[in-house]
Amino acid sequence: MGQVSRWWAILAGVFSIVSAQDVANQKIDQLNAALKDTAGTIDTTDNGVQVNTSNSLRAGPRGYNLLEDTAVRKKMLHFDRERTPERVVHALGHGAYGTFESYGDFSNLTAACWLRDGAVSEVFTRFSVVVASVGGSESGRDTHGFATKIYSECGNQDFVGNHLSSFFINDGADFPDLVHAVKYEADKGFPTGGTAHRTAYDFFDHHPEGAFQLMNVLSDLGIPRDVRHMSGNGVHTFRFINAEGKSTLFKWFWLPKLGHRSLFYDEVTKIAGKNNNFQRVDLYNNIAAGIYPEWEFAVQLFPDDGSYMWRGYDLLIPTVIVPFDENPPMKLGRLTLNRNPNNFFAEPESISFAPSNVVDGVSFVPDPLLQWRLMSYDDTATHRHGSPNGFTLPVNRPIAPVNNNYRDGYMQPYIYEGNSTSTPNSIGGVQEPGADATLAYTAAAGEQAGSGPIGRYVSQYDWFGQARTFWNTLDKFAEQHTVDAYRFELGNVGDADVVQRYINNTLNSIDNCLARRVAFGIGSTMPEMGSGPSGSGTIQSNSSMPKTFSSLYPLGATQEPHKSNEGLQVALIANDTLGTQADVQAMMSLLSAQQVSLTVVAPRIGMLKTGVTANASFITTSDVFFDAIFIGSLATTNGTSGSGLDMDSYNFVMEAYGHGKAIGALGSSGSGILSGLAIQSKPGVYSGDAARVANDVLDALAGPVRFPERFPTDDVNAICGAA
Ligand code: HEM
Ligand SMILES: *[C@@H]1O[C@H](CO)[C@@H](O)[C@H](O)[C@H]1NC(C)=O
Ligand SMILES: *[C@@H]1O[C@H](CO)[C@@H](O)[C@H](O)[C@H]1NC(C)=O
Ligand SMILES: *[C@@H]1O[C@H](CO)[C@@H](O)[C@H](O)[C@H]1NC(C)=O
Ligand SMILES: *[C@@H]1O[C@H](CO)[C@@H](O)[C@H](O)[C@H]1NC(C)=O
Ligand SMILES: *[C@@H]1O[C@H](CO)[C@@H](O)[C@H](O)[C@H]1NC(C)=O
Ligand SMILES: *[C@@H]1O[C@H](CO)[C@@H](O)[C@H](O)[C@H]1NC(C)=O
Ligand SMILES: *[C@@H]1O[C@H](CO)[C@@H](O)[C@H](O)[C@H]1NC(C)=O
Ligand SMILES: *[C@@H]1O[C@H](CO)[C@@H](O)[C@H](O)[C@H]1NC(C)=O
Repeated sequence: MGQVSRWWAILAGVFSIVSAQDVANQKIDQLNAALKDTAGTIDTTDNGVQVNTSNSLRAGPRGYNLLEDTAVRKKMLHFDRERTPERVVHALGHGAYGTFESYGDFSNLTAACWLRDGAVSEVFTRFSVVVASVGGSESGRDTHGFATKIYSECGNQDFVGNHLSSFFINDGADFPDLVHAVKYEADKGFPTGGTAHRTAYDFFDHHPEGAFQLMNVLSDLGIPRDVRHMSGNGVHTFRFINAEGKSTLFKWFWLPKLGHRSLFYDEVTKIAGKNNNFQRVDLYNNIAAGIYPEWEFAVQLFPDDGSYMWRGYDLLIPTVIVPFDENPPMKLGRLTLNRNPNNFFAEPESISFAPSNVVDGVSFVPDPLLQWRLMSYDDTATHRHGSPNGFTLPVNRPIAPVNNNYRDGYMQPYIYEGNSTSTPNSIGGVQEPGADATLAYTAAAGEQAGSGPIGRYVSQYDWFGQARTFWNTLDKFAEQHTVDAYRFELGNVGDADVVQRYINNTLNSIDNCLARRVAFGIGSTMPEMGSGPSGSGTIQSNSSMPKTFSSLYPLGATQEPHKSNEGLQVALIANDTLGTQADVQAMMSLLSAQQVSLTVVAPRIGMLKTGVTANASFITTSDVFFDAIFIGSLATTNGTSGSGLDMDSYNFVMEAYGHGKAIGALGSSGSGILSGLAIQSKPGVYSGDAARVANDVLDALAGPVRFPERFPTDDVNAICGAA
């Protein structure tokens, strides 16, 4: 493109975005109107009278407090009620604002206005973990929530999904049981942040439909590095309806532009202790630094012929997934998170999502899990806000006008005018919309009210086959991490019968060798060799489909080989003789070109004798926060052996090595230091010229990211017999 036409393209783009962005700005204006800046104001009571409440009103300097101290009494009364109840699930979370841009005009597919050409809407996304309570660790192994509210011109559209594609159950009737089982044990009050306990595995034993989801959680997918590197998944099938009433079924996804990254489990447990806010800090700091995470909104489409089936996949069963290899997702738009909230309570904590919040053009299917979600979130929001008026809070309010006769209740903030409080009416009140403007729930054609006798039904599918397909997709190291995760969880269950039943009933039905390996590691009885599934049944048991789908495991080596390193953090170990200004200079431009930040870690913060400034110390930080570690070159060999690391540096490097991270030792002293550690020729370990080592480490971070091949794996032949 020539210079001139490029300018025209940019200008045209700017104009179309400016006009479309009015919608996004409307939400920002609405939020700004609710901002209240108290800086420099004088303290008052709630009735607007200035008062100094720093000290109590007392009957003399050594006397009792006076009941007449109404100002401090009110201050205390308000404090006593500062909390609203935490969410019953997904309590621990955080989030940010951003925009959703439609890639084009999708009116053929849906009437939803946020998918019109040039549409740009303001959004808020909240990330969460299911099990932990407020104050727990965001990095725990769990299903992570990914909930987005699009403040579109035609109303709020909520997408309330998770970071994994499937779920534990198929019927909302089982959800309270699931949550009771995975949260802390009722009698003991522990554990508070995970499923490695008896009630959880007793539940899982009774729910084979969750075998695939649990294996996803126990693979490295269950411990994402942060929210920027994970997907969002709608799990259920939904329905698009276009202006002609034509229905198309879809499953939706948020695909991270940065690709997927995960932690090592040992690292997860240490991050939980050293900074249980690691994930929200990562998102907050990146947004503050202008490194905005992006996800593409993608959908798998299925024709709606009334059967809710697609090539043998049952679209009404939420635990059943359709691999991308079978039905590649179509990209419809882009989510960019670019603005941190101003107030944690008023925004991420007070936002209420509901799968029932859809705009005209999006609707539902008779999936019995989804159907209960359609009531549960509105119900819980009413409880959590203490009132059905939570929708009037700034973060929840649509930009589309809200007019109805749902009136009054606690903290109703409006002064409604007019005489009528009913619709329809002939006295000037709220009027009904025309039929064409009514939210369309179902397809015009093909939809039946029911499909058989009234009853309580159980979904049928090859649950173990779907889990087996996932298992078969893992490489040897991903397999090992997953086996170790089952060993960790089952090894902590503390009820040998529950453990043995899970191994015999579920794991051995997925794969005999998986069951034997897990049992072997925790001293349980290994199911007899060959006693597992006989056929090679996989996702589609009677088809000739391949037994593996690489898209099921995006962390696999072939899936995302060249990821962006944006927003990663590396450390350089330094002291008064280790690490030079030349080291820093050689690395700096390479790192900043990829938006990777460098922290110099030394025995003390401040200027070192080498002239390098350390901005963290071994006491203030930890290797677990960094994606790769560099060891500075020795400024002088005067007084040092040149090969031995002091204890703090040694622990820092070797723990990172134990988490599979890239290690770079700079300068001519590098290889001596590495051989002193006995890691000099291991994968992902580099030494020599600073710029070259920095490039090697950056390449490693872009993929494979970590080096699990440093560690032994099970002797599978010994445990399972030679293949
Ligand atoms: C019938 C089954 C389910 C029920 C009854 C249910 C119920 C709930 C409830 C009561 C909350 C707390 C909401 C609040 O206090 O604001 C919640 C949060 C959440 N649920 Fe579900 N849930 C179900 C299944 C699912 C599924 C299948 C997914 C994922 C596809 C999911 C994703 C989420 C997310 C992401 C949140 C957090 C929303 C936020 O950030 O505020 N839930 N759920
Ligand atoms: C508020 O009152 C306390 C004594 O109760 C006093 O120490 C403090 O200086 C007062 N603040 C101002 C701004 O006067
Ligand atoms: C929309 O559908 C009409 C009628 O089927 C077709 O002519 C048109 O090309 C479609 N447009 C798009 C953008 O797919
Ligand atoms: C398996 O085959 C049967 C009989 O041909 C068919 O009804 C069914 O839909 C098939 N299932 C799948 C998963 O393809
Ligand atoms: C309420 O009804 C009265 C009587 O018809 C009318 O005069 C008045 O304007 C109405 N008020 C409003 C706000 O519409
Ligand atoms: C599990 O399987 C083993 C070996 O096949 C058997 O000895 C044991 O009784 C089974 N235990 C349970 C609880 O099913
Ligand atoms: C150290 O400084 C670098 C560059 O200014 C910055 O990116 C990094 O976050 C800092 N680390 C700490 C712990 O302050
Ligand atoms: C080397 O160490 C000795 C004794 O510690 C000291 O006198 C000398 O100045 C040092 N030389 C350099 C180049 O640092
Ligand atoms: C600097 O680090 C090197 C390598 O760990 C160590 O041998 C040396 O004793 C340290 N020097 C100082 C002054 O801490």
